[in-house]
Amino acid sequence: MDDFITLTYNGKELQLPVITGSEGEKAIDISRLRAETGFITLDPGYGNTGSCLSSITFMDGEKGILRYRGIPVEQLAEHASFKETAYLLINGRLPNRDELTQFSVMLNDNSLVHTDLKAFYQNFPRGSHPMGILSSMVNAMKSFYPDLGNQEEEMTLTMTRLLAKVRTMAAMSYKISRGHEIVLPRPDLTYCENFLNMMFDTPVKPYEIKREAVNALRTFWILHADHEQNCSTSAVRVVGSARVNLYAAISSGISALWGPLHGGANQAVIEMLSKIESGSESCAQVIARAKDKNDPFRLMGFGHRVYKTYDPRAQIMKRMCDELLESMNIKDPLLDIARELEELATKDSYFIDHNLYPNVDFYSGIVLRAIGIPTNMFTVMFAIGRLPGWIAQWKESTDDPNWKISRPRQIYTGNLEYDYIPIHAR
Ligand code: ACO
Repeated sequence: MDDFITLTYNGKELQLPVITGSEGEKAIDISRLRAETGFITLDPGYGNTGSCLSSITFMDGEKGILRYRGIPVEQLAEHASFKETAYLLINGRLPNRDELTQFSVMLNDNSLVHTDLKAFYQNFPRGSHPMGILSSMVNAMKSFYPDLGNQEEEMTLTMTRLLAKVRTMAAMSYKISRGHEIVLPRPDLTYCENFLNMMFDTPVKPYEIKREAVNALRTFWILHADHEQNCSTSAVRVVGSARVNLYAAISSGISALWGPLHGGANQAVIEMLSKIESGSESCAQVIARAKDKNDPFRLMGFGHRVYKTYDPRAQIMKRMCDELLESMNIKDPLLDIARELEELATKDSYFIDHNLYPNVDFYSGIVLRAIGIPTNMFTVMFAIGRLPGWIAQWKESTDDPNWKISRPRQIYTGNLEYDYIPIHAR
């Protein structure tokens, strides 16, 4: 196995070290490239650029593999709780019984939200998108929860606060948007049960916690818990690299996730399916538009930067969607439309040639609808699920002794130097 790649340029040679990951993936270490040669690399969108070494999540986009800390996501989705998965991602291993109990107690103890934070909600204009609100609220948390002084204790508490309070804040925002009383978290409920109860319990109609809904939410959150160096996680790492506080770094991740090409795709998929249901476009027309290079439209919930086969999360999501709707006796016309679109796309040479398959967002909205989550909250649901991953990635980057501030370079293509012209002479 080569330990170096030789770069030949201008009649000279440079030996660039080869880095091999634990699953055999390879990188050329170019960190000395500019100093030695004056060249930089250019890789818009970073499709070929590794930004870090990481031991959190492994993905193989060709084989459709996803593992958290080495454990296949399929096994976690089948057997683990979301809390265990969060612990695993953040601490690098599964908790034992005592550790899990202690983690649960900490989450419960930190699940209330400072009452003054509620005032923020009241002042957002009606109709504000919950992702914009969540991003602002998380950033504001730094002002409400002062530093403890002890760095390690502080970090554990900040991470726990985020996991516990973001869930409460998300449910609060829904209640406030409806003009309903806020429902407080209950220590006797699990992480997922608590969220559903805070969302849907009302004084006139107590929420009946259904096992199927809880299980669907647990699976949804586990499937979203981490996905290595995606757009929002990279935002968390890049912003965090300036040594900003964790709340601010997570807030930037939430903003990045909001975009329709990323986490916002779950809302965009439902909007696309609803448009077809309304009769304004047929499935065939939507497929034709997605293929038309003169139309910016893309088939939402299809395609992925890394997966060039079926996203393993989408496979689990699709199966769960079928089982959930059947067990809850729900007939959702959007599921039939999604199936029809998938069938048309997977037989179409454009989608085959471009390796475009359903991603995690294609069926997830139908799952969320079935458990009663409103469409504009879908990406917030993704954000709650992704929190453990963002926290784990931030922690890994801040613990890295070789950590540097993120600062890419560029190739300048603008004007050459010229003199300022006074306004009267222009
Ligand atoms: N519909 C139609 N064509 C597509 C789609 C799509 N959903 N996705 C990619 N393509 C085409 C592009 O037009 C391009 O075609 P060309 O090479 O003929 O010009 C080719 O496939 C490659 O596309 P890129 O944009 O270069 O691929 P990239 O890896 O940068 O994009 C992305 C990945 C953003 C996810 C893209 O597939 C997309 O826009 N999908 C729809 C939005 C979506 O579902 N996002 C959620 C992703 S999962 C997540 O973030 C949680």
